[in-house]
Amino acid sequence: MKKIFCLVSLIFSLQGFTQNELQIPPTVTTSTVDLNIQTGNVNFYNNIPTPTFGINGPILAPTIVAHKGDNMLINVTNGLPVTTTIHWHGLHVSSMNDGGPHQKILAGAIWSPAFEVLNNAGTFWYHPHGEGKTDLHVSRGIAGMFIIHDAVEATLNVPLTYGVDDIPLVVQSKAFDQFQHIAISTEMDTSIMVNGTIDPFLNAPSQVVRFRLLNGSSMRAYNFGFSNGMSFYQITTDGGYIATPIQLTRLLMAPGERVDILVDLTTFTGQSFDLMSYASEMPLGIYGSTMVGTAPDTIPGYSLNPLNGIDFPILHVNVGAQTTTPVPITTIPSQLVPYVPYNAQDATVNRLLVFDTITTGLGMEPNLAEGQFGINGTVFNMDSINIRIPLNSTEIWTLQNKTHVAHPFHIHDIQFNVIEKNGTIPSASETGWKDVILVMPHDSVKFITKFTDFADDVTPYMYHCHLLHHEDDGMMGSFIVFDSTNSILDLGNENNFVKVFPNPTNDAVNIVLKIDLKIDAIQVVNMNGKVEKMISDIEMNQTTYSMDIRSLKEGIYLLKVISDKGVEIIKVQKI
Ligand code: C2O
Ligand code: CU
Repeated sequence: MKKIFCLVSLIFSLQGFTQNELQIPPTVTTSTVDLNIQTGNVNFYNNIPTPTFGINGPILAPTIVAHKGDNMLINVTNGLPVTTTIHWHGLHVSSMNDGGPHQKILAGAIWSPAFEVLNNAGTFWYHPHGEGKTDLHVSRGIAGMFIIHDAVEATLNVPLTYGVDDIPLVVQSKAFDQFQHIAISTEMDTSIMVNGTIDPFLNAPSQVVRFRLLNGSSMRAYNFGFSNGMSFYQITTDGGYIATPIQLTRLLMAPGERVDILVDLTTFTGQSFDLMSYASEMPLGIYGSTMVGTAPDTIPGYSLNPLNGIDFPILHVNVGAQTTTPVPITTIPSQLVPYVPYNAQDATVNRLLVFDTITTGLGMEPNLAEGQFGINGTVFNMDSINIRIPLNSTEIWTLQNKTHVAHPFHIHDIQFNVIEKNGTIPSASETGWKDVILVMPHDSVKFITKFTDFADDVTPYMYHCHLLHHEDDGMMGSFIVFDSTNSILDLGNENNFVKVFPNPTNDAVNIVLKIDLKIDAIQVVNMNGKVEKMISDIEMNQTTYSMDIRSLKEGIYLLKVISDKGVEIIKVQKI
């Protein structure tokens, strides 16, 4: 771990200068969206340009505003010199449209996912998800909100005028090196910014104002509260509205989580206060608290970061006059959106995911606070599927954390209901639809969910730790949702590039290339994603291969042909 940091940025952020008006990302409200990923420069400090990545601008990304039922077409053009991906965090879309590590967008290429918006109203977001590159690309600047509205929300008396009484707050910490370049894999994330603005202030009207809080940081959690001691009201969890507002004075949010809160500023005209992180009160073991782990299993350099375990300002708020338009909202609603959680009685599958250190991979000794971490003893592998889930399966997942650091677990595709945290029911703030849940050290969490729609035997979804450095180091797994009614016996003998025969077979399977391909490997993978057989010793210009599968048990396997033109997958039956 490098420990380079900029003293100037440190002093500025600690003194809480509040000199920059909070930037509000522009919106895109059409259902066809053009996103141009680009390199840029931002003068964060002292007019020294910092190289950044952004979408349709030098940093961050426009806020996409959509309605439930909209048919989106998103043209993502990668103007970076490197491969990246864009993932719609929290959205229920097919795995092909999900933007995980398998939906690579090469430098200069355009990726055009198209999907219907199926989620309920809420605050979602989008960010890169390239294999091993999530932290770098997010830290460099790419992240945007994806706000969904729906008809139920339209009946509520809540602030919905973007940038006026409905304020997006993308809260991030970043590390800068001595050249004012954004650094990753350092514990010196000493610069706090909101919507890419350092030391921001917001002029807010004296009425009920909504803050859409997104913790878009790579590692840091925040324990939000206000310097004037006022309460605020939580109205959503990750997946949308909760049934009734929850009155709070503190709100802990881990990376990846979103919570919309209402603040009643009607009696505060002319006053100022700060949105703070009260990290001194944060439970130990969470990145951002006083301490993570116990010696010798602590994060090296962690205690040198002056933000860890102290209370610091995030956004200065000056309260001005009420708005005329929109008509000010001056009361906190008593009811929001009732919802029906999943019923544990309907669950037919239980799965256990254990978070622990592992020894493979980076070649360093594992440390219970620092990693390297894996899930169920393994690290992420692009070519294997860790979990196969039958379509429409209702499942209870238990997340067990055997390490010294809290991990925010995130799963793609679905929203879940937390049913147990450390053996008891979760707090009201974590009761509702969630797609990220913080699992404390040596603790466990149970959630229930259902995998509806989007069966695809081949393209996986991800689940992972949303501490981006853990994710990139392999604390991630993949799952597919399969439809047993039509997929398992559908044996193909031909794909675009290859022909396979005989199939079914009891001894060997022959593979003939139909076009000119550069083969990297040919694998036979079982239904749990384990590679059973493989040919990796490939000769140039060889166009036919034979794979001996006599040693395999009877059943269905996937034959994967990995080539320069992509990966072809054919189901093969051993008889
Ligand atoms: Cu926000 Cu898989 O990520
Ligand atoms: Cu983690």
